Amino acid sequence: MSDILIETLISEEEITRRIKEIGQQISNDYKGKEILLLCVLKGGVMFMTELSKHISIPLKMDFMSVSSYGNEVVSTGVVKILKDLDEPINDKHIIIVEDIIDSGQTLSYLKQLLEGRDPKSIKICTLLDKPQTRKVEVNIDYVGFCIPDEFVVGYGLDYQQKYRNLPYIAKVRKEYM
Ligand code: IMP
Ligand code: MG
Repeated sequence: MSDILIETLISEEEITRRIKEIGQQISNDYKGKEILLLCVLKGGVMFMTELSKHISIPLKMDFMSVSSYGNEVVSTGVVKILKDLDEPINDKHIIIVEDIIDSGQTLSYLKQLLEGRDPKSIKICTLLDKPQTRKVEVNIDYVGFCIPDEFVVGYGLDYQQKYRNLPYIAKVRKEYM
């Protein structure tokens, strides 16, 4: 695909299989309820759309855009809201859908902010988790895959806004980091 990618870390088949499992788990956990899938743009888009196909209970979708990284690989700890939700979330069951949790700073900020809006419940669902690089503790409810401390792209994740469209997760060469 490109000389910046070294190898596939997680194949499309593995991702699809795991997303189906998570979808079934969410459908069981929230049986009889309606949920709001809250996608954190832009990285969470591919994961959320695929996940939503495997959830059998009623759901709504909304989107939020926050920024902590700019085009840098290393977290700055600064979280800005670039786009807020379209609707209020009081009396909703929220599942925040993220591409990856790294330092945890984005998610802990976001969760705190949303808790202030008084939803019925909030859970966190992430495709990837990098537990080794955590700086702030976050309670994650659904995890696709735990990965080592590597910079990865694909399935929504970018390097300088590119490679989000790859249908698999790939590692990026060290010299580009
Ligand atoms: P954090 O948990 O606040 O450090 O930030 C998480 C965000 O950083 C994610 O939503 C991604 O946008 C970005 N990020 C962290 N690690 C990676 C990676 O390996 N590849 C691409 N983006 C990453
Ligand atoms: Mg993200």
